[in-house]
Amino acid sequence: MSFKDKIVNEKLPQHIAIIMDGNGRWAKKNGKERYEGHYQGVETVHKIVEASAELGVKFLTLYAFSTENWHRPKEEVDALMHLFVETIEQELPTLNKNGIRLRAIGDIASMPQQNIDNLNETMAKTEHNNKMDLVLALSYSGRWEIMDAVKKILKDQQTNPISAGEITEELFSSYLNTAGIPDPELLIRTSGELRISNYLLWQIAYTELYITPKLWPEFDKEDLYEAIVDFQNRERRFGMTSDQIKR
Ligand code: FPP
Repeated sequence: MSFKDKIVNEKLPQHIAIIMDGNGRWAKKNGKERYEGHYQGVETVHKIVEASAELGVKFLTLYAFSTENWHRPKEEVDALMHLFVETIEQELPTLNKNGIRLRAIGDIASMPQQNIDNLNETMAKTEHNNKMDLVLALSYSGRWEIMDAVKKILKDQQTNPISAGEITEELFSSYLNTAGIPDPELLIRTSGELRISNYLLWQIAYTELYITPKLWPEFDKEDLYEAIVDFQNRERRFGMTSDQIKR
């Protein structure tokens, strides 16, 4: 029996975030170059995007390139930037066929012009799709995003002064790159590492974490279904007691 049959549709997470880790280790394990691991990782991206949209997940956020990834060897960074353009171009028909809108979070302005143009073009071509939002975190880190929000608040302060008391969680969230996107209920990390790696730091305050030893290129639809079933069997208490939740 597939884990898919155990998924309770009414309890489907509306936002799943993923740290796609292990491409390099997969390549090494299979006697290949690191970039080949990233290419294989794209196959997984395709399958997981499709599966998520099929299930009815509303937001899927993928950590594709972190602020810290800029420190990787230049050849690997260049290969990844090229792969992003190529993949996004190739995936356009799938995005439109499945009603998926492409969005991006992160310091997009720091990316090569070709990537910026490619993202803008694809975001425009998919902006009316409304089944699922695919959010790519590119040149992204949680600390960068929080700092960016603080800077924007200070900038706005010059024209539209607000008092300290007016700074609420809602107001702060509206300055984040993820403004308008609900916090993820489920965060999946592949390759077994037990860390958050500067991902969605503000947004994951009460997110359920699911860490699998599978490397990203080996992760498949069935693994996604299993993660969702695991999530659905948890009790989310948000700091309250079990009795309060059941009431
Ligand atoms: C982490 O594995 C993976 C990345 C830094 C890149 C992920 C990018 C893709 C899968 C391509 C996706 C493309 C689009 C358009 C979304 P790693 O290199 O850190 O692996 P390691 O820890 O085993 O070395």
